[in-house]
Amino acid sequence: MKKLETTFAGLNLKNPFIVSSCNLTNSAEKNRRWEEAGAGAIVLKSLFEEEIEAESGWVQEGTHTEEQDYLFAYYRAHRLDEYLQLIKESKKQCTIPIIASVNCFRPTGWTDFATQMEQAGADALELNVMSVCADLDYTYGAYEQLHLDILREVKKAVTIPVIVKLGRHFTNCIPLIHQLYANGASAVVLFNRMAAPDININTLTYANADALGHPSDLHESLRWIGLASNRVPKLSYAASGGVVNGESMVKAILAGASAVEVCSVLYRRGDAPIQEMLDFLGDWMAHNGYESLNDFRGAMNAKKQGSAAAFERSQFFKQFGRFE
Ligand SMILES: Cc1cc2nc3c(=O)[nH]c(=O)nc-3n(C[C@H](O)[C@H](O)[C@H](O)COP(=O)(O)O)c2cc1C
Repeated sequence: MKKLETTFAGLNLKNPFIVSSCNLTNSAEKNRRWEEAGAGAIVLKSLFEEEIEAESGWVQEGTHTEEQDYLFAYYRAHRLDEYLQLIKESKKQCTIPIIASVNCFRPTGWTDFATQMEQAGADALELNVMSVCADLDYTYGAYEQLHLDILREVKKAVTIPVIVKLGRHFTNCIPLIHQLYANGASAVVLFNRMAAPDININTLTYANADALGHPSDLHESLRWIGLASNRVPKLSYAASGGVVNGESMVKAILAGASAVEVCSVLYRRGDAPIQEMLDFLGDWMAHNGYESLNDFRGAMNAKKQGSAAAFERSQFFKQFGRFE
């Protein structure tokens, strides 16, 4: 299985299958089982800054009573401590890299999380900076700038590799990725999955649409990894979204990914897809005469003659024209 080895964010992985951040990675026991099932690395469930604030009833704006400040400090310390235990226990029970994950939406006030996660033994830190920007007075570019501000603060605090997981709603994520690289990011994950709102027409309440992803989610990752790995080649990429079988894993690597971060198919089918996907990858490589992932990583990215146009085309007239 040596030929499946890969380097992602400076970490040496025995294979490119990473169990992505979700509740499937929120206990050391579960993480040990993912390793036994063949995973190359694990991203722990995110620690959510927003959730800690909501639980404690704390709001950023305005003044706080002493009681509010106390509750916030209590929840914050308690949740952080639980998370540090998860890192320490997972590191005890697993030999594969353990990547901690923080969901944050402000550049300051929480970077001590990052320091303590590094001290607890995390091999890398994944930043999941995802929010809906819907303010009327939103300044274009502010969301991109937020990613950079957060990354800069974290880089001051830690020496472990920092990975940035992006949401899929950017007009053009390539200049951002270029700036992330310039500010010390080791890797980028394309893309995170946003909760999708739905409405129950009988109860007139809001609900979440299908929480799990679909195979068709892969195409946007292929587009942007295909473009970005050509234009910003010095950092590593992981595809997340719609990686559900060996074929989709091969496509992600051909587009330029060093790894895949997988979630929904594990919720649907348990741990069986891990070995199936790795077996498929090994067989496909043998069939095509590839000795290592480096032999074909990025072989179908935008540098391949003519494929830049394929990635950049927003509408395929011939293809759409067939549908009358
Ligand atoms: C139930 C569920 C929980 C998730 N929780 C997190 C999380 O805590 N942090 C995070 O960065 N991504 C989270 N994600 C996103 C996944 O890690 C993954 O990036 C996304 O679902 C796309 O991959 P998939 O198509 O294989 O599901 C979650 C996804 C699901 C479905």
